[in-house]
Amino acid sequence: MNLEVFSSSNQLARDAARRVVASAKSAIGTHGAFHFALAGGSTPKAVFRYLAESGIFTPDLVEKTHLYWGDERAVPNDHPDSNVRMARETMIDHLKFPAENVHLVNGGAPNLASEAWRVEKDIRLNVFSLGDLVPIFDMVMLGMGTDGHTASLFPDTEALKEESRLFVANDVPQLGTKRLTLTYKAINAARDILILVSGTAKADVLADIRSVPNRMINKYPIEGISKHAIWLADEDAATQAKAAS
Ligand code: 6PG
Repeated sequence: MNLEVFSSSNQLARDAARRVVASAKSAIGTHGAFHFALAGGSTPKAVFRYLAESGIFTPDLVEKTHLYWGDERAVPNDHPDSNVRMARETMIDHLKFPAENVHLVNGGAPNLASEAWRVEKDIRLNVFSLGDLVPIFDMVMLGMGTDGHTASLFPDTEALKEESRLFVANDVPQLGTKRLTLTYKAINAARDILILVSGTAKADVLADIRSVPNRMINKYPIEGISKHAIWLADEDAATQAKAAS
């Protein structure tokens, strides 16, 4: 595991933001665009705010950036729990992303399976891929839940077994809801994968993942993420993990 530990969540957020910008510069320099799938939840908020306010995400990069969502809840985009709303409030509303480059996911769609297909088609249409192989996101940003889930790949859910689709509606019985999520196939094809882990609530799972060599993806779905992923954790989340390594 490529784990970097930071003294605070703020330091983690700044490093993550700098990595986003570096990935954007590389992608735009290589193929003229930056296809970036955003993490949901609360950890990315400080990263998105720093990207919006620090000035490091310059207009020349923003105008060539395409935004996607790693996952979305089954709620409308204006709902307080929406990952689209979170990204809009912390970053998108503060930078000049071309509207056509913001590839929204509609968690409030009446048929989430159909919405998942629409998003999948949009990804295949826009994200660069070699021939008809899997589209290659330039960066996928992820978080980790206290149960070891990532995106909306939750333990013991069908999406963990998905091997051909890129984006699916996933029943999550433990939450009593459906979620929309990128699959391992889409995530693991990405050039850069950034996993953000912050807070003491994540320490046990991170330590467990660090200490157990095999990949128990049904228990900890994040173990199914490619080994080339870069993990960024703050001290609160990584203290036990360091002891385990
Ligand atoms: C979501 C996320 C999810 C998140 C983890 C961690 O929609 O909730 O995509 O995978 O990354 O649950 O969430 P926190 O950052 O809030 O701890």
